[in-house]
Amino acid sequence: MAEKVSVGLIGCGVVGGGLVRALSRNGALMASRLGAQISVERIAVRDLSKNRDLPVEPAIFTTDWMSIATDPAIHLVVELVGGTDTAREMILTALRHGKSVITANKALICEYGEELFEEAEKNGVNLYYEASVAGGIPIIKALREGLIGNRVQRLYGILNGTCNYILTQMKNKGWDFDYALAEAQRLGYAEADPALDVDGHDTAHKAGILASLSYGFWVRPDQVHTEGIRGLDILDIQFAARMGYTFKLLAMVKPNLAAPVSQNGARPFSPVQVTVFPTLLPEDHVLANVNGVFNAVFVQGDVVGETLYYGPGAGADATASAVLSDLADAALDIKCDSAGRVPAFTPHEEDGEVQDIDSVVCPFYLRLQVMDRPGTMANIASILGDLNIGISSMFQPEGHEGDRVPLVLMIHDARHDAMREALKKIGQLDVVFGDPVMIRVEPFDPLPVLAD
Ligand code: HSE
Repeated sequence: MAEKVSVGLIGCGVVGGGLVRALSRNGALMASRLGAQISVERIAVRDLSKNRDLPVEPAIFTTDWMSIATDPAIHLVVELVGGTDTAREMILTALRHGKSVITANKALICEYGEELFEEAEKNGVNLYYEASVAGGIPIIKALREGLIGNRVQRLYGILNGTCNYILTQMKNKGWDFDYALAEAQRLGYAEADPALDVDGHDTAHKAGILASLSYGFWVRPDQVHTEGIRGLDILDIQFAARMGYTFKLLAMVKPNLAAPVSQNGARPFSPVQVTVFPTLLPEDHVLANVNGVFNAVFVQGDVVGETLYYGPGAGADATASAVLSDLADAALDIKCDSAGRVPAFTPHEEDGEVQDIDSVVCPFYLRLQVMDRPGTMANIASILGDLNIGISSMFQPEGHEGDRVPLVLMIHDARHDAMREALKKIGQLDVVFGDPVMIRVEPFDPLPVLAD
């Protein structure tokens, strides 16, 4: 007879409903694999009158989350309400009552992870958060367990299903931004506040979590330089496509590999670039071909080399699958009395720091609206040249009427502070109209071979 693990669920929206249905479908299979039966005994919701049509007894619903977080008969609490205020209180209460907690709440983990992990450890329980990053992709497990013997040399992520869906539909179907976002909301991909998705914050939370796990010091959301996809012009998507590039909202986590080896032979990997912005990828790169709601994480480890993780990044079933994986881990930890066998997060590089955006170097795409007359290009080239910024190619699309034309410049590797200075000066030229558009390019060059 399988041991029963009693679960209290707090929040039963899109993901919670998906979890209850998935457990009803595969609970018996999981019990046979785990030797433990996972049973949702109570569910806290805001509104009892809402018709949820779930395969559970109506009597298990309550509006009182506290009664679940403190109930001695509940072994495990699953928090799926989102937000960072009440959710934090819910998790802390459950941990202090000796219950391990499972959460999909990336904003909360990124902002308050250190506090929550410490509280879990203090109470001899654990906090599981597989569903917080990249939906159904088991990337937390991959980093914490599968790649534990590697130093992460670089990590790239397409981590927001909503943004990837919007960018894919804008490029392939010519949809405008607002229509594509409305569809993403209808399909249940977007956050309750979709600004979190399209302004890049959701990706930044996930990037912060992945960076923290990879480098052993906690990266807070305000340390992640973040730009979203709102306002992206279809013109740039089209021009980029003509030059062989695809837009993605890309999270980049890249340590300073050129740091000198220390006396004990270790190579410090700090500072680490942790950024999120719309990025142009060569269209033949595997990440450029991750489309729709799919997410992907590319991790290069110093032992394993390049690895890639791909799967649905948002939606009820994808997230439910990740919560099921945490439920299985937590149930086994309860069965074997081993909570903490794989700690939620173990700090190990406490001197690590995040790289300042000004010193981040990359190639750029620039689009300017300029006066179509001789000398314009010379003016712009001279500003760039004075700042030691090289142009790798340029292109002026034909067919624009009037004396104002778009001018696209591809820039060699340049520092962000130099580019900012150049754009300020270029914007002041009387032959340039409006704000220049600046997009970063990630060429995925091979890593330098470093001497030991
Ligand atoms: N809104 C998120 C996304 C859901 O679109 O990826 C998963 O975190």
